[in-house]
Amino acid sequence: MVDTPTPASREMDIDRPCAARIYDAFLGGGHNLGSERSFAERLERALPGVGEVYRENRAFVRRAVEFLLARGVRQFLDLGSGIPTIGHVHEVARRRTRDFRVLYVDNEPLTVAHSRPLLAGEPRAEFIQADCRDPKSVLHAPEAVELIDLDEPVGLLMTAVFHFVPDSDDPLGLAGTYRDALVPGSYLVVSHLTDSHDPDAARTLATLYQETADPLYPRDAAWVASLFGDFQVMPPGPTYLSRWRPDPDQSAAQHRYHLLYGGVARKP
Ligand SMILES: C[S@@+](CC[C@H](N)C(=O)[O-])C[C@H]1O[C@@H](n2cnc3c(N)ncnc32)[C@H](O)[C@@H]1O
Repeated sequence: MVDTPTPASREMDIDRPCAARIYDAFLGGGHNLGSERSFAERLERALPGVGEVYRENRAFVRRAVEFLLARGVRQFLDLGSGIPTIGHVHEVARRRTRDFRVLYVDNEPLTVAHSRPLLAGEPRAEFIQADCRDPKSVLHAPEAVELIDLDEPVGLLMTAVFHFVPDSDDPLGLAGTYRDALVPGSYLVVSHLTDSHDPDAARTLATLYQETADPLYPRDAAWVASLFGDFQVMPPGPTYLSRWRPDPDQSAAQHRYHLLYGGVARKP
């Protein structure tokens, strides 16, 4: 594993809105503060209908996890998981099987505090506070060692998180480190903010997020696809999330924004 400098652990900051609770506010969850709700309202004024982008991401996570479950994946590592409410990985998994394990990872302390009680009574899911920029702290955490068998295939979720990792922290190198830790038959699920289709909207979003505790870094579609490295990308390939295996009643034409790009790939 490549040795990277350990990022300083994140302090509690309730003065600025944070990504996890902005997302929760858009999903209609109950784990957000006034600052996040007013930030969400400002975003909505600047980009009418932008809430669909957040809901589309969570719907993509569901479809991707269902896709992996159908292919026999039973253990999931969710980097930058946010608060696991409203149809998150363990809820999707337990609709299909009792034989699953999920390790949720987030670096935001209040997110961790909100999330742990939600998992009480669910022995197959754990939540740790760790920084995805420090793969060792994730992969070697006692809970990870206990829950996730790296000799067996893993579904690694990198959804809506690497767009919070600046270039100076080498997101492509980090993705490679995580890919290398997985055995063949594992899958990588990616979603990431892109400026390839709606550059003005991506710029507006990134500018507003500068005021939050989680600045955003949109990247072009080819860059996002390169997170998959030499993994085999599953049909339909990397694409805008609304086009990735949509539900039968869902039409990509209903979507105003194409801001999130991603897909699913398998380690050969
Ligand atoms: C928009 S939420 C995405 C939630 C979930 N992955 C999903 O796709 O539904 C992004 C999450 O990434 C977390 N995050 C941002 N930077 C992180 C880092 N360096 N390490 C771990 N988590 C991080 C934030 O705290 C937030 O909860």
